[in-house]
Amino acid sequence: MSLFAFLPPLPPFLFSVLVMSGLVSKALHIGLHIRSLPFLYFVLYSPTLILQDLLVILVGRLLLQYAAPGTRLQWLSTCVGGLLSLVTWGAASIQFGFFMQTGAEVAWAQSNSFLNDPAAMKILLTGITTVSAAATVFALVAWMIHSYLYLLTGLGLLAIRDLFVGGYKARYTLLSVPNKSWLASVDLRTARRSAIAVSVFVSLLFLELTRPSIPYDHLSGALPLTLMDAFHKKSVTVEGCRNPTMNFPLYTAGKVSSEKWSRPAWLPQNPPPGFSRWDISPEERAEKDNPSWYLCSSGDPGFYNPKQDPLKISNLGGGIYEPLRKAFEENSVEIDNVVLLTLESGRKELFPAQQGTPMFDALLESHKKEKREKAIDDLVKLTPVAQMLTGEYATDSKGEKVDLSNATWQDTAEEGMGGLNVRGALTGSSLTFKSILGSHCGVNPLPVDMLEETGLEIYQPCLPQLFELFNEVKSPVEPNLPKAIEARDDESEAVKYPWKSVFMQSITDDYDRQDVLNENMGFKEKVVKKTLKRARFGSKYAPKGQEINYFGYAETELKPYVQDLFEEAANNKTRIFLSHVTSTTHHPWNTPDDFKTESYMGDEGTVNHGLMNNYLNTQRFVDNWLGDIMTMLDETGIANSTLVVVVGDHGQAFGEDNKDMTGTYENGHISNFRVPLVFRHPHMPRIDITANATSLSIIPTILDLLVHSHSLDTRDAEIASSILPEYQGQSLIRPFISAIGGSDTHGSARIENPDSHPIDARSPRPTHKHKDARTQRVWNFGLINAGGSMVSITSADTPYRLILPLREGFEYVFTHLAEDPGELHPMKTWTLSELVHEVIPKFGEDPASWIEDAEQVGKWYVNEQRKIWGYREK
Ligand SMILES: *[C@@H]1O[C@H](CO)[C@@H](O)[C@H](O)[C@H]1NC(C)=O
Ligand SMILES: *[C@@H]1O[C@H](CO)[C@@H](O)[C@H](O)[C@H]1NC(C)=O
Ligand SMILES: *[C@@H]1O[C@H](CO)[C@@H](O)[C@H](O)[C@H]1NC(C)=O
Ligand SMILES: *[C@@H]1O[C@H](CO)[C@@H](O)[C@H](O)[C@H]1NC(C)=O
Repeated sequence: MSLFAFLPPLPPFLFSVLVMSGLVSKALHIGLHIRSLPFLYFVLYSPTLILQDLLVILVGRLLLQYAAPGTRLQWLSTCVGGLLSLVTWGAASIQFGFFMQTGAEVAWAQSNSFLNDPAAMKILLTGITTVSAAATVFALVAWMIHSYLYLLTGLGLLAIRDLFVGGYKARYTLLSVPNKSWLASVDLRTARRSAIAVSVFVSLLFLELTRPSIPYDHLSGALPLTLMDAFHKKSVTVEGCRNPTMNFPLYTAGKVSSEKWSRPAWLPQNPPPGFSRWDISPEERAEKDNPSWYLCSSGDPGFYNPKQDPLKISNLGGGIYEPLRKAFEENSVEIDNVVLLTLESGRKELFPAQQGTPMFDALLESHKKEKREKAIDDLVKLTPVAQMLTGEYATDSKGEKVDLSNATWQDTAEEGMGGLNVRGALTGSSLTFKSILGSHCGVNPLPVDMLEETGLEIYQPCLPQLFELFNEVKSPVEPNLPKAIEARDDESEAVKYPWKSVFMQSITDDYDRQDVLNENMGFKEKVVKKTLKRARFGSKYAPKGQEINYFGYAETELKPYVQDLFEEAANNKTRIFLSHVTSTTHHPWNTPDDFKTESYMGDEGTVNHGLMNNYLNTQRFVDNWLGDIMTMLDETGIANSTLVVVVGDHGQAFGEDNKDMTGTYENGHISNFRVPLVFRHPHMPRIDITANATSLSIIPTILDLLVHSHSLDTRDAEIASSILPEYQGQSLIRPFISAIGGSDTHGSARIENPDSHPIDARSPRPTHKHKDARTQRVWNFGLINAGGSMVSITSADTPYRLILPLREGFEYVFTHLAEDPGELHPMKTWTLSELVHEVIPKFGEDPASWIEDAEQVGKWYVNEQRKIWGYREK
């Protein structure tokens, strides 16, 4: 027994930890949502929000008694109570730590996918200090109040017991003992108390039953009960599988064409993976074209038919921008190689860093007024290579162009040349590899958490698969060649060379099945962290520095590999497709030791600017690296025949953008979505495109460029032209169509022409109006990391933005980006009708009816995506 002599104070302490952790977690939970709750309702329903907590306290108090220590039952109940308490303590600490790091809430229901993932666990572990700090504070406070709390709840329990048991006793004695006056008074008192208790209980129950389930059910969840979510409950409010024949809500979508489908002539007998959509019999195809074929229970893969896609607007009927068309006509653009650079956490506002964005203003605000000029001059020098790649030249505090002579690369293109620069691009997802599905395969990702796409067939061919197809139809073993195709006389030698696709990143590809995804996209060769680690020590391929973050090395370690690949393209009759994802710009924004970091941020304001400062330094680091890549292209001599596409995987929200919430995880803020998009070629005229496009446009643009620059042989060009209209996105070498049937429906483009003023390249509006005269818009969707909780909806022709919740516990958010480009004042509500009611007085009827459309389209889209992907909830 002496062993357990220390025990008596333990149960009260454990109990205190349980109560303390439960209550602070609840306070945080409610605090995070309080601004979106109508005040009166909140006051009315707030008592019901703590019912679960009271239950936990009650059970905890009963379990953690030490009235009769030593009995076996006592030990058991102390153990159970203690476990409950420790689990709650841990969970509350994680919740607080996570909140301090990102401003977001831990969703236990989604934690499964995280816990199974070593790299994801590392992200969580980087927050271990804040988590342990929170845990320590909770324990200390719990220690301080434990005896008081224990006594108080004990008295409370006694009072409750007396109330009911006492009342019963009193009634009992009333019958047996005839002392009337005394008994009557006791009875009256207890009866009154019981009546009050019962009526409080009944009204709580009434409120509980009548309160709106959204959001109060979610808000009333209490630790440790909410932890159970991690094991079951997938509460999806927009169900994917329930409605296989859900019609497009806004107008009648295209009917299935009655002409009989036949296998396309361009498709070889045994096509590489990625083309199964065309490689089916007419009967199968007819079956799949019938919208009702898709049923949740069946095991069919998904199917996409562009002709039936009510959201697809094609701009292929529009002419190619005139200067570009001329360059193609002169045969001066040669594209033998494609390099696709995906900038991790690459924000448009920093590509290049320049004045006039909400972000730049926020950066300046960290400095005292008198220091702002110097801050401007420092910041505009951050990304010189980005300035040259985009042609957006930043100006300093005096309005002068920045001196770029110190950059790691000098632009070799002539004045007015350089290619397409897109302003207004948004990513399709703030989860990196969902976004990459858009840029590499031209598909919208699946609105579920994490990379579930890896278990399914990607519904469009990805770039490596297209190149593989080009290789295959040239290979002599292909028996089904219809007839020899005459070579054009202007055809360059290179169009006959085989393509080679390589994926490179200096970090691990183990994270969330990325390696599987890369294989599914058709990459047969890759250089990743494992490759670097395996390289013989001391050889030129071995890493020179240490790992810089929990994923791996700095991207500069890839230099010898990139160099080799470019040399292969230059000397070895090979056309290369290099896809490279950068990595230093990922949280926690470390740079290698030999990189000299600068101080860009001041210390005004309430936000800690350390993270932003690190991030800005990694931006400069990556800009230098992009310069290195461009220099290698120049030095190996392939720059004039290489198309370089630059896109951000997603943005990155910091405290400077929005104090409430940072990071990408379950954060819909617009700064997570604006990305750069550049199609660089030194022999293409510079065209500055303003279009609210997404990375869905990348493949169509690349194919359109390859075809019209005569960079494919006749047969490949025929294949590319046939596949091009099958993608959902528009080609950006033609005027972007934002909507059909609206008023101002076009994106615009400014073409730099050294001899004259910029030309307005707006094309005439297409004349084919939709049959019911409603505007047909380009709707853009952005899945918010981790993918299944929220989708951001914009349409290319309006400045409105809606965040549609897909699960309970998430709010509707509306912003008007023309009035509030930095989303400093989002409107948040729990229901769509509340949102519409709040929007009308502030912004009018137009955005209100847009919101209603957006919600319907969004729900339809979620359903449709599951169908197209052939996804079924497990
Ligand atoms: C270029 O770098 C040198 C050496 O670091 C420095 O002295 C010079 O001021 C820089 N020039 C510009 C224009 O930044
Ligand atoms: C060039 O091609 C040949 C034959 O295809 C191959 O053996 C060689 O390794 C290649 N060289 C490089 C640098 O890739
Ligand atoms: C690339 O093109 C430019 C003209 O834009 C030319 O001056 C340069 O010599 C070319 N480089 C190579 C390696 O052919
Ligand atoms: C693109 O979106 C912005 C808001 O982000 C909006 O102001 C603009 O009008 C849109 N562009 C077009 C061409 O509709």
